[in-house]
Amino acid sequence: MSRDTPTASLDAARSGPVPRHVAIIMDGNGRWAGRRDLPRWEGHRAGMSSVREVIEGAAEAGVAHLTLYAFSEENWSRPAEEVDALMALLEEYVETQRAELSEKGIRVTVFGNLDMLSPAARSAIADLERTTSEGAALEVHLAISYGSRGEIVEAARALARRAADGELDPDDIDAERLASALYTDAWPDPDLLIRTSGEMRISNFLLWQLAYAELYITDVLWPDFTREHLFGALVDFRGRDRRYGSVRT
Ligand code: FPP
Repeated sequence: MSRDTPTASLDAARSGPVPRHVAIIMDGNGRWAGRRDLPRWEGHRAGMSSVREVIEGAAEAGVAHLTLYAFSEENWSRPAEEVDALMALLEEYVETQRAELSEKGIRVTVFGNLDMLSPAARSAIADLERTTSEGAALEVHLAISYGSRGEIVEAARALARRAADGELDPDDIDAERLASALYTDAWPDPDLLIRTSGEMRISNFLLWQLAYAELYITDVLWPDFTREHLFGALVDFRGRDRRYGSVRT
């Protein structure tokens, strides 16, 4: 099945309410490279330009939170050469973008099982978070070494530990308390999930947080995704009828 790949202007994107939180599964880097007879890492490198595009576009459009799925826990099982290339790109991204992000008022936070990363990558991330910590124009959340089931299991464990220590009555565990034990506690749930490259999957991404998100799948491969594609998704979102399981009265 082929889907439309509409684009829109910034004016169109800003001509009505925009989602507060947009989450993106950035997919299709490998296929982009394969179609050009390039190694897969070249696709990831090209994908870095799209990361820059959507961060700038989201800030221009007035989105408050942008969450990007940069590396899943499952991605560790890719060939070592590709994992190493992705980690090197992450460090390069921090090195080259840190100052500009900070100047533009963009605050970056990183979440996931960061213990799996090399000390150099962890230190680059800490540096990025520190340098951009005052940003108020847009919050960018990078999911790195992230898996949603693992996150929920960890949250359940943390609550169970508190219950076992007598600090928490198990009957007081509700959706709000469980959500408060997730990485994403401080942010609103995503309103819109964009997935590039046409795959119709959630891929263990923010399973809890996406409960009421609108889904937007585009055939555009991630390295070809521009801010105008993001604006197109924002315009499409405005046409959705969000009922949260209820009915219109
Ligand atoms: C999925 O495409 C993409 C990834 C696993 C990595 C995403 C990484 C980037 C966009 C670049 C680095 C980002 C930052 C924030 C520094 P795929 O490889 O699964 O593509 P395929 O399905 O076509 O094989």
